[in-house]
Amino acid sequence: MSTRNGRAVRYDRYGGVEELYVAEVGFDDPAPGRVLVEVHAAGINPGETALREGAFADTWPSEFPSGQGSDWAGVVVAVGEGVTGVEPGEDVFGWTDDRAAQATHVDVPAGQVLHRPAGLDAPTAGALYIAGTAAVASVAAVDPQPGETVVVSGAAGGVGQIAVQLLRLRDVEVLGIASERNHDRLREMAVTPVAYGASPARTLENVRAAAPERVHAWVDLYGGGYVAMARELGVDPGRINTIIDFAGAEEHGVLTRGTADADAREDLAALGDLVADSALEVTVAAGYRLADVRDAYTELEKRHTAGKIVLLPQE
Ligand SMILES: NC(=O)c1ccc[n+]([C@@H]2O[C@H](COP(=O)([O-])OP(=O)(O)OC[C@H]3O[C@@H](n4cnc5c(N)ncnc54)[C@H](OP(=O)(O)O)[C@@H]3O)[C@@H](O)[C@H]2O)c1
Repeated sequence: MSTRNGRAVRYDRYGGVEELYVAEVGFDDPAPGRVLVEVHAAGINPGETALREGAFADTWPSEFPSGQGSDWAGVVVAVGEGVTGVEPGEDVFGWTDDRAAQATHVDVPAGQVLHRPAGLDAPTAGALYIAGTAAVASVAAVDPQPGETVVVSGAAGGVGQIAVQLLRLRDVEVLGIASERNHDRLREMAVTPVAYGASPARTLENVRAAAPERVHAWVDLYGGGYVAMARELGVDPGRINTIIDFAGAEEHGVLTRGTADADAREDLAALGDLVADSALEVTVAAGYRLADVRDAYTELEKRHTAGKIVLLPQE
């Protein structure tokens, strides 16, 4: 018998957004070492679409019915035996490795719970984990040095907006590839916008025009041939990182560091502090009720979100 009634996003087989539904579920008191959190915001990510569509059925199969989501922020409801440093009623954020964040409640190990600092609101905190740690790992991978020029493809998206700001904090000149409607946002972040053209050749021309001297490193967050473009520009393979184009990475011998390579707790805490200190601004492009989860993913899957989409499970 569960101690609390709640709701959670579920799907029962691989497929499109139509497979998503919200189920009534129960949440028990947390086991020793664990924390039960009422979720106020849960960021959504393209990787969840890939999992749901079965793209990783061989490597990371789903168990059905499957829950969904890694990113969350909320308020502690109860702590299990032995948990210290976190108490009911506190504002927290963190992650789950159990595909379980998109729910009214999430039950996580205490080590995956961080205090949410003043100045970091819940929707932003709930959008940070996957995109933020991917951005941290991508930037670290290419080892950017002050004064260098780094290109970011997919600069306006969830990962992109964080990555470009982390690069700027390292005093790097950043060229951000994005559609023209996002160029003002890139300029606000002191990034030089570069439009992608109708063909890769046209995009390459635009990059060359924006960086007449040299591109030292490339952070690819979109795929679709940007790894090959970076090589064509003469960027060293050891200074190109992609989080999406794994075939291109294999062909060109470039890096593929992402969320799995981050130090989850340390990097997430640092990202939260940067936001709280106004050194990093994460655009929350839209918030959806849990019941509208299909609409949220339909929007995300257009691949033109400027920033992050979050679910708001208490609304
Ligand atoms: N390996 C990992 O650890 C890891 C972690 C997180 C994410 N990822 C992957 O990284 C990718 C990005 O994730 P995300 O959360 O940032 O996605 P997102 O928020 O959906 O962003 C997609 C961005 O791509 C841009 N875009 C669309 N067409 C483009 C083109 N032809 N050239 C350049 N940019 C283009 C869009 O900008 P415009 O609207 O301006 O076109 C949009 O801002 C996804 O494929 C995701 O699966 C991997």
